[in-house]
Amino acid sequence: ENLKDFIHELKGLNNIESLLKDKLGIEKVIVVPGDVEQDPMIKKELGKSAANYLKTIINYDSIIALTGGSTVLEVANGMPQLYSKSNIVVVPARGGLGREVEKQANTIASILAKKLGGTYKMLHVPDNLGKETVKSLIKEPDIKDVVETLKKADILIFGIGRADVMAERRNLPQDIRDFLEKNNATAEALGYYFDKEGKVVYATPSIFLTLEDLKFVKNLIAVSGGKGKAEAIVSTCRSGNVQVLVTDEGASFEILKIV
Ligand code: G3H
Repeated sequence: ENLKDFIHELKGLNNIESLLKDKLGIEKVIVVPGDVEQDPMIKKELGKSAANYLKTIINYDSIIALTGGSTVLEVANGMPQLYSKSNIVVVPARGGLGREVEKQANTIASILAKKLGGTYKMLHVPDNLGKETVKSLIKEPDIKDVVETLKKADILIFGIGRADVMAERRNLPQDIRDFLEKNNATAEALGYYFDKEGKVVYATPSIFLTLEDLKFVKNLIAVSGGKGKAEAIVSTCRSGNVQVLVTDEGASFEILKIV
């Protein structure tokens, strides 16, 4: 840890953090050295840093909501194992993505809950459902229970992706991809697609935690790194849904060129 602090200071990352915080207009920025796109180990560092921050805000009875993705997975992996029991509940903010089960919010919620001695809830809903199906699903008791818990979350940890990459990963139909492109969508987070200014361009129908709900979540923590995600990170910050950003040096330098 001492070595980490030393490198952090040596690289001037403290200054970059406070510069980014001001430019992005958010509460806190944590920057780890390196770039996740250059070295996969950096994603683990990003996760560990976010987990360390998380430890400072978690309460005995916190409700933690989280999204899927390889970065949020590293937050759960980076959390040390607690050996006492807690009343912490971890809930997925999204259903499955039709992608690898290892990176789905459900799986990550179970990993993090076990680390924290708490419990978890599951949201067994595919990502590519139509609006009507989602509306009727929400009335199902099992799903209703998870959604009600979600809306009481005091902490939300989420990933940020590039709109084009996420549209591809989620296998969105061509007409929606064209729509995203035409409307200059740059970012995807929590099922929402944002443009450069942070305006919502498109919302995935299977959203259970809405932007309206986020206003009541005390801690909104985005974890996202890599030079190629800089624009997506800026857009999501501009949408007003980020309080704390945990990112890497690669994204940071690129962000400073934009803002
Ligand atoms: O919404 C964004 C994605 O979940 C980010 O996924 O961390 O694997 O790039 P990733």
